[in-house]
Order: sequence, then C-alpha cells, then structure tokens
Amino acid sequence: MSEQSFILDGKTIPFTPGQTIIQAAMEAGQYLPYLCYHPDLKPHGSCKVCTVKIGERFMASCTTLAQDGLVVESDTALLHEERMTLIQMLFVEGNHFCPSCEKSGNCQLQATAYDMKMMTPHFPQFFPNRPVDASHPDYLLDTNRCILCSLCVRASRDVDGKNVFGLTGRGIHTRLIVNSASGKLGDSDFAGSDKAAHVCPVGAILPKRKGFAVPIGERTYDEKPISVFTAIERKEK
Ligand code: SF4
Ligand code: FES
Repeated sequence: MSEQSFILDGKTIPFTPGQTIIQAAMEAGQYLPYLCYHPDLKPHGSCKVCTVKIGERFMASCTTLAQDGLVVESDTALLHEERMTLIQMLFVEGNHFCPSCEKSGNCQLQATAYDMKMMTPHFPQFFPNRPVDASHPDYLLDTNRCILCSLCVRASRDVDGKNVFGLTGRGIHTRLIVNSASGKLGDSDFAGSDKAAHVCPVGAILPKRKGFAVPIGERTYDEKPISVFTAIERKEK
C-alpha cells in the first residue's frame, strides 16, 4: 500500500488511515496547539485551540481524520489571532492568577499563552467565585481554574472506570461536578493513582503537600516553549 500523506503548512505529513490530523502532525514532529486533546484519550473537540484551515473550512485537527492529499493550514496570522482570542477567553472566564498558582511553569494554558505571545487577557474578567474543594486527603480541586476540557471526565470514565467527574449545565453555566453523594471529591472513589489525577492541563486538580516543589527555572515550560516539545516529551509530562 502506498503511503498516504497530507500537506501541513507546506510540509508533507504521512499518516496511517484512521489517524487524525493532530495525531499525524505530532508523530511527524509538527506542533499544533491543543488543550482538550490527550494522546491517550478519545478526542472531545471542545477547546478549538487546535483549529486548522482546510480549504475554506475551519476544522478541529483533533477530531478531523487525515485524508490523502488534504492541504492544511495552521501557521497563519488569521489562525494565530483566532487561537489567541480563544486563550484570552479561557483566561477571563476563570481565575487564572498565575503568580499564586502552583501549576505556574507546568501549565499548558499558561505555556500556550506564552507561546502565542499573549500579553494581556484583553477581555473583562468574570471573576467566578466557585467553592474550592479540599475534602480529599491527597488532592485539591479548584474549579475556578477549570477550563472544561473534560480530560478528567474522560480519563475517569474511559481509563479508570470510575466516572468521578462530569460536566453539567449549559453555556456559561457549564461546570465540573464530582459524582459523589455530597458532591465532594473526598466522598468519591478518586485516587492519586487514577489517570484522572494526572491529566488536568491547568491548576484545577492538584496534589496536596507537593506545592512549589520545582524551583523556578526548572519547571517544564521554563526549559523551552511548549511548541518545541516533541510529541513523546509532551506525552511523558
Ligand atoms: S478539572 Fe482540569 S482536567 Fe478536569 S475539566 Fe477542568 S481543566 Fe479539564
Ligand atoms: S484540542 Fe482539538 S478542540 Fe481542543
């Protein structure tokens, strides 16, 4: 069978049938920004940060299957601008006060914003006031930082077989909930060994008693911008 490929920003990207555009791009060492995608989980297509342009259409590269001969644009001024707007909206919808967040330096949202050279959040802040759930002995849940990527929902359901998390509500009222009688993480069967404990791209699910363990200068995205990590390095993070 002859190898199939598509063109991404002028580069030929080989793929095996069934792969999405982002999977093939990552395998070929090409960075496409993403937040709600995870190589080990089924794609969800909610953040739209991975959007690329195929012909006249804007498509989420994490849910679009690669096809032979497709011409895909990602590195364009228009797409950079659209993605920056999405990231700015995520910043203002939550309380992403990086200077006081333990995830700073290891956060995919912050690293993506840096990589896009975002200088301000641009839009008015929402300042949500959701309760912080510190009921679990080993983990803290601060949904003021949740970007509703559903990675923890999918990891808990599809990998851990537990359904600890869920998204409820619509539109601006969408929020993350915990599936326990009290709604508290401490009353669920969530455990530190769960996949769901290790997929949050922001500082919403954090282990307790491990804060600020990595010195400034040695945190993941202090080393290099998120766009130059290889797919394998990203997976290991
Ligand atoms: S808690 Fe983290 S992983 Fe879960 S939906 Fe929110 S941002 Fe995503
Ligand atoms: S990474 Fe594709 S929509 Fe979020």
